[in-house]
Amino acid sequence: MSLGVCYYPEHWPEDWWAVDARRMREAGISYVRIGEFAWSRYEPERGRFDWGWLDRAIDCLGKAGLKVVLGTPTATPPKWLIDETPEILPVDEQGRPRGFGSRRHYTFSSEVYWTESRRIVEILSKRYGNNPHIAGWQTDNEFGCHDTVLSWGEVDLKAFRSWLRRRYQSTDQLNAAWGNAFWSMDVQNFDQVALPNLAVTETNPAARLDFWRFHSQQVAAYNKMQVEIIRAHSPGRWVTHNMMGFFNEYDHWDVSKDIDFPSWDSYPLGYAQRFLHDDAESVRWAETGHPDIAPLNNDLYRSMGAGKYWIMELQPGPVNWAPWNPVPKPGMVRLWAWEALAHGAEVVSYFRWRQAVSGQEQMHAGLNLPGQHEWSPGGKEACQLGAELAKLGPLPASEKAPVAIVYDYEAYWITRIQPQGRDFDFVELMFRWYSEVRKLGLDVDFVRPGGDLKGYKLVLVPTMPYISDGADNAFAIADGIVLYGPRTGSKNRHHAIPANLPPGPIAKLVGARVLQVASLRPGLKVSVKGKVAGTALRWKETVETLGAQTLAKFAGGEPALVATGRYHYLACWPDEMLLVSVIKFAAAKAKLKTIELPDFIRLRRRGKLLFVMNYGEKPWTIPLRGKVIMGGKTVKPHDIAIVEC
Ligand code: GAL
Repeated sequence: MSLGVCYYPEHWPEDWWAVDARRMREAGISYVRIGEFAWSRYEPERGRFDWGWLDRAIDCLGKAGLKVVLGTPTATPPKWLIDETPEILPVDEQGRPRGFGSRRHYTFSSEVYWTESRRIVEILSKRYGNNPHIAGWQTDNEFGCHDTVLSWGEVDLKAFRSWLRRRYQSTDQLNAAWGNAFWSMDVQNFDQVALPNLAVTETNPAARLDFWRFHSQQVAAYNKMQVEIIRAHSPGRWVTHNMMGFFNEYDHWDVSKDIDFPSWDSYPLGYAQRFLHDDAESVRWAETGHPDIAPLNNDLYRSMGAGKYWIMELQPGPVNWAPWNPVPKPGMVRLWAWEALAHGAEVVSYFRWRQAVSGQEQMHAGLNLPGQHEWSPGGKEACQLGAELAKLGPLPASEKAPVAIVYDYEAYWITRIQPQGRDFDFVELMFRWYSEVRKLGLDVDFVRPGGDLKGYKLVLVPTMPYISDGADNAFAIADGIVLYGPRTGSKNRHHAIPANLPPGPIAKLVGARVLQVASLRPGLKVSVKGKVAGTALRWKETVETLGAQTLAKFAGGEPALVATGRYHYLACWPDEMLLVSVIKFAAAKAKLKTIELPDFIRLRRRGKLLFVMNYGEKPWTIPLRGKVIMGGKTVKPHDIAIVEC
């Protein structure tokens, strides 16, 4: 449990480095991440290296007692390389190359870029792999940021065709899998396969799904290539990658298995502006962040790392990239870090040490004021946190949570490829379900499709259109209450409707099938009554029971919530009232002990410690007995308490 910071020695005069390093230590910081965008500074032209400054920076930080996390520089290929081989540049869906001048200007399918990446990662990891100050590595920076997973150029098409050849062997199989008889789309050889863009109207959803899978695998392979090189030259060091919040463009479970642990970059105020579509809600949480957005991602990455994860970047003040960028309420820069620690983070590292005075991110806060050796308001909170951490000592490990949510990246791709209703938004559905569980004071783990569900009292599957054999099997042997949301089991692996109709393989578990679906435009809604009650919005299915019990009905009498034994199926997008009612019903059936929290309070356990986070403007008194370890029994606004109970 320690603190870290992201630092750019190349942005500041060399005689500042030692002062910076000393002040980092004084703040209680142990780790410093550097180097992830520095390629042009150590290889200004092909083969001409200037390592002196980086050698001295690592040495200076290390001698001050800091452990260095070194980033590979591949998120920013330098200008000379792009000029040599412009084929590295990604191409957008409209067919336009995306140019040099910011970052992430490469496609994962460029063989030239693979060669260049191998070369630079090898040189870097050979040079610093055994440096005593290097604790670990970060591959690249935020794969996929700025919409860069999918690329639509010539090199992408070439690689996609080879991928299809390996996957389908023959065009007969490809034509059958994609249903190419439709609209005369058959191909006779793999070179006839086109990119699924720029057609007159919608392109084949099966082709798009494969295109997405292909790119997701390209990301994983590219990361793995870097990890293997680093491991070969840097024994005893770990490798991570910094992922993003609510980012679903590639399968993070796949990338995680090739690194030692995942880390992620947490920007609570940026997310409150970007992901909350309801204006009132966005205003309400503008200066604190929503109490479930960062935690959802904390839980997801902890689960991905089998208990171990870092926050590699944490917001230290206003950021620059959201539509609006407020200043956090006093206390929040500290609270977000404590909250991540409550959710199991091993290290919380702030982005960035000092606010830049030039460049694209000059309006992004740091722990120090722009160009100064002087704490920013957020920096002062980080110093307080450092002192508190030193006092508290190690925290107990997180235990398995009582509730599991199955998180499937393909579910996001499928519902994006074929929304069928404009507002069927995977991120929102996932977030709403998670949020209702957390408001009942319950801890949550996430599980990948096909992952082990045994031992969870309640398993939630907000939506999961394609269920593989492995996932089907994991559901069959789950031993808790299972609740599936709309569209689950509605597609086979080729994005086609299953032969037995949705919910496909799980029809046998829930004892029902879906005859038709309606997406409901804003203003259309249907009430639901029975063991649970509320309103269906956005999406409603017509279900026929095949042995299932109907627990609640839509107005009109069709089943809305059905169950066979412990398997439940909810046939709509629930409004808040219905969702609360369904989650409470399922939690009660699972015999979980719940508590109704105000919407600004959240709890999280680590062993016998209970963390209480207050996101609101009012104090809140913990209604439980126990010894207070930090804070008070009455938790002040934007503050945290830790209770042993
Ligand atoms: C992250 C990125 C950083 C920096 C930061 C600004 O997405 O990894 O390099 O740009 O955002 O908030």
